[in-house]
Amino acid sequence: MGHVFITRAIPGTAVAQLEAAGHTVEVWPGELPPPPDALAAALARSDAAMTMVVDRITPAMLAGAPRLRIVANMAVGYDNIDPAAAAEAGVWVTNTPGVLAETTADLAFALLLAAARRVVEADRDTRAGGWKTWSPTAFLGTDLFGATLGIVGLGEIGEAVARRARGFRMRILYHSRTRKPALEADLGLEFCDLHSLLAGSDFVSLHTPLTPETRHLLGPAAFAAMKPGAILVNTARGGIVDQDALVEALRSGRLGGAALDVTEPEPLPLTHPLYSFPNVIITPHIGSASRATRARMAEMAAANILAVLEGREPPNPVNR
Ligand code: DGY
Repeated sequence: MGHVFITRAIPGTAVAQLEAAGHTVEVWPGELPPPPDALAAALARSDAAMTMVVDRITPAMLAGAPRLRIVANMAVGYDNIDPAAAAEAGVWVTNTPGVLAETTADLAFALLLAAARRVVEADRDTRAGGWKTWSPTAFLGTDLFGATLGIVGLGEIGEAVARRARGFRMRILYHSRTRKPALEADLGLEFCDLHSLLAGSDFVSLHTPLTPETRHLLGPAAFAAMKPGAILVNTARGGIVDQDALVEALRSGRLGGAALDVTEPEPLPLTHPLYSFPNVIITPHIGSASRATRARMAEMAAANILAVLEGREPPNPVNR
């Protein structure tokens, strides 16, 4: 029977499932992630690990963990692990695809609406006593109806965002590695290159994974190409955006606002200039944070661990 290390307390029945199968489960007790040395030591005494997006698993940690057979990331993204290095060390890396697309798309849309209609700004002002009367000019925002949404990355989450946008009767442009003619026909999507998407969109929502190719995909040139007054929504990964360029685009007034569920680094230090803009919303990486979805993600990660510890292939490998 195996020793399973889980880097944080998790919701749902995943721990019970692992224990019912006879495995010993060690859950890191802190609210904060284990520091690198504690993580390395825990991996060294484990057969399996369940990790979160902020747990960086280095090749050195893998080399120091001879028993380790699987790192099951409780996330669809796995940019915190080098899958090739893990494969070389004989360690499976798995993720949790499929279960969090709708939940993350809900948050992307919540941020889109909140930024467009200045919900957070208005709430802040109301609490500070700013609501003196009904005003014909206060907190004027942007309509979603009839506006153009540019979706960068049309995977599961991008598609779920497109379905929502269609319900709001938006025009939808998309840019993706692969073109999806069936979805284009079904949802009325228009494929275009990144530059045309940026130039033609009132809202841009990011849904690509973070890879060497997408790091700082939105830099100074991209912001210069964007429609003046456009709003950026990022629920993907902070590293896709060059944050210095984003600050400059906000400072110059080129960008109408930004709603960010992800930043670089996370958490974003409170001294960061992004906090100084009233038209910026920042949430703490909660895209998949519904009770049901987080429980399903944990259970899926547990299913991957159970498979490997029973000598089977995991259902969701990313480094086979
Ligand atoms: C993921 O699954 O990659 C998310 O960012 C974590 O919720």
